[in-house]
Amino acid sequence: MATTDLIDETSTLLPSDDTALADLVFTGARTVSRFVDDTVPEDLLRAVHDTVRWGPTANNSTPLRLLVVRSREARERLAAHVAEFNRERVLAAPVTLVVAADTDFHLHLPTLAPHAPTAGDRLAGVPEVRERMARENAWLQTGYLVVGLRAAGLGVGPMTGIDADGVDAEFLTGTGWRTLSVLNVGWPDGEGTDRPRAPRLSWDEVAREV
Ligand SMILES: Cc1cc2nc3c(=O)[nH]c(=O)nc-3n(C[C@H](O)[C@H](O)[C@H](O)COP(=O)(O)O)c2cc1C
Repeated sequence: MATTDLIDETSTLLPSDDTALADLVFTGARTVSRFVDDTVPEDLLRAVHDTVRWGPTANNSTPLRLLVVRSREARERLAAHVAEFNRERVLAAPVTLVVAADTDFHLHLPTLAPHAPTAGDRLAGVPEVRERMARENAWLQTGYLVVGLRAAGLGVGPMTGIDADGVDAEFLTGTGWRTLSVLNVGWPDGEGTDRPRAPRLSWDEVAREV
């Protein structure tokens, strides 16, 4: 079934002249597990980040951090900490981003949150609150990142079938970064997947008015 067959033709996500964008980032975009063998330049990743970093986070905490895994040696180290069903995808992707939450994000708050000058000091004494905030907001930024990568024409294969503690021990010891997920990134080979598109829930299934 074509992707568009699953979409209610009466629904409009964005203004009508932006349907191409909706198609690129949502309705036509698939989760990609098969990529063409082209290098993804760091400049492109940097440009995507320069855009998506403007997505909102609580108190502008912006705790998302990225570890870029590109070399054969680095991806073999990473592949040792992902579930077996995901391993070949990490080994084959043009570039893989380990997405982490920085539990020390508060150290940047004097710059990031000048409107809340005491926030950094307050958070310094409550590491559990910081970790929860870091994880929640880095996940939020992960969504922005996936959409931004797609908007740049790239395909993305997010994965949480990983041993996050193992990835932390392998790459992030001595930092406040905590691994959340892994994103395989590159240009899709065809649709980038053989899996048929699965439906989504409708507005009536997910929303209630009070
Ligand atoms: C946070 C997250 C974690 C995921 N983890 C995995 C994973 O570990 N392995 C995998 O094969 N797919 C994983 N997926 C892919 C999802 O199964 C896929 O995005 C979903 O089925 C929708 O597919 P579609 O975008 O092609 O419609 C993950 C997706 C997300 C967003």
